[in-house]
Amino acid sequence: MSKTAYTTHHGMTDLLPGEIEQWQALEAIIHETARLFHFQEIRTPVLEQTELIARGVGQLTDIVSKEMFTFDRGEDHYVLRPEGTAPVARAYVQHHLAQRGGTQRLYYIGPFFRAERPQKGRQRQFHQFGAELVGARGSIADVEIIAFMTRIYRQIGITNTTLKLNSVGEPESREAYRKALRDYFKPLAGQLSEVSRNRLDTNPMRILDSKEEQDQPLKAGAPVITDFLSAASRKHFESVRDLLDKLRIPYDVDPFLVRGLDYYTETAFELTSPDLGSQDALGGGGRYDLLIEEVGGPPTPAVGFACGIERLMIACEALGLKLADPSGPDIYFVTRGEEAARWALEKMPDLRNSGLVCTMDYSGRSLKAQMKDANRQQARFAVIIGEQELNDNMFTLRDMEKSEESLISGSEITERVLSS
Ligand code: HAM
Repeated sequence: MSKTAYTTHHGMTDLLPGEIEQWQALEAIIHETARLFHFQEIRTPVLEQTELIARGVGQLTDIVSKEMFTFDRGEDHYVLRPEGTAPVARAYVQHHLAQRGGTQRLYYIGPFFRAERPQKGRQRQFHQFGAELVGARGSIADVEIIAFMTRIYRQIGITNTTLKLNSVGEPESREAYRKALRDYFKPLAGQLSEVSRNRLDTNPMRILDSKEEQDQPLKAGAPVITDFLSAASRKHFESVRDLLDKLRIPYDVDPFLVRGLDYYTETAFELTSPDLGSQDALGGGGRYDLLIEEVGGPPTPAVGFACGIERLMIACEALGLKLADPSGPDIYFVTRGEEAARWALEKMPDLRNSGLVCTMDYSGRSLKAQMKDANRQQARFAVIIGEQELNDNMFTLRDMEKSEESLISGSEITERVLSS
């Protein structure tokens, strides 16, 4: 008989106990940071309409042209969401969030999907946390978003990061810039890498994103977008920089920073880490003043960021940062015989009501095996119960770390464990 060993799909991983505690601790930091910035959580479905993502993120992007997981059912076209901004924009329009008045401050944590070639820091199912400020035009909003993002890394102790900042301006400036890039790269086409050559006509700005060795010297002499910005864009960008200086958030202006999604206008940024290898972006974002309109809403300025959780974890590991230690139970009941096990089972609800974490053996193993299990689970105390102990209502309380034992009555357990 053949036996099938089922595994996860390539580029998708299980998160198991031992690792999950780090994730939970990070999520607590994200929720707390969001609370301090007065952002509210939004949860959108994992499946969206393919058309939303195609329009929102852009037909020519890698995400839409080759990385979407899609399927059809009847008339409906489903896509596993590759990012969170277009879904948030859709929700904003669908639920008329504008009618609530003011700026919507939204944040999210969840799984996203891109059919990329998996490698370190690049999965097909990955997780992001992100925030979107919808309805705010001023540079203060851009800076609040950047402050939100960077605060989380600072809080954790990931401080060796670089914030790269650029302005991609308005669509008209970008069009003029694209033309200038084409004019510059066309005569050099023969020397460009194949990927970049293919982008020459479709999306020349992405050539600036190239990591190919042979493109680097050619990129160096390319025109920069900053020379094509309108006076208003330039002013906005200057104001963002000035405010970042005021908040003492360091950044490097990188005129070649182009993001892999088409919806950006004005400010674009990325947070990179030297600990990530070739996929060096911890997170990124920017302003997207035209997206809400693109997906059917009224003209609405917005700005946001999203960061990869797996990449944050890689950075933590490289820096030796632990966000949480898996902790053991306060009490492990070591029982001999059915009656003792029942006594423990009945006792545990009270102890839990007092906030104590308790567990016991569930399968009638030997005392030795139970003690071993209590040790492995890093229990603080073991309470040992046999027939004699039940008759006397006196139990052995073993401090597992100090290896000290004392005799206490059943009613003293809570008090003793809570006070030590
Ligand atoms: P993004 O740059 O495509 O932006 O993704 C943000 C972050 O998600 C990346 O910097 C990276 O850390 C992580 N990430 C992306 N793809 C993968 C992958 N395949 N495996 C592991 N991690 C990955 C966005 O998604 C925009 N929605 C950000 C945004 C929000 N812009 C405005 N608001």
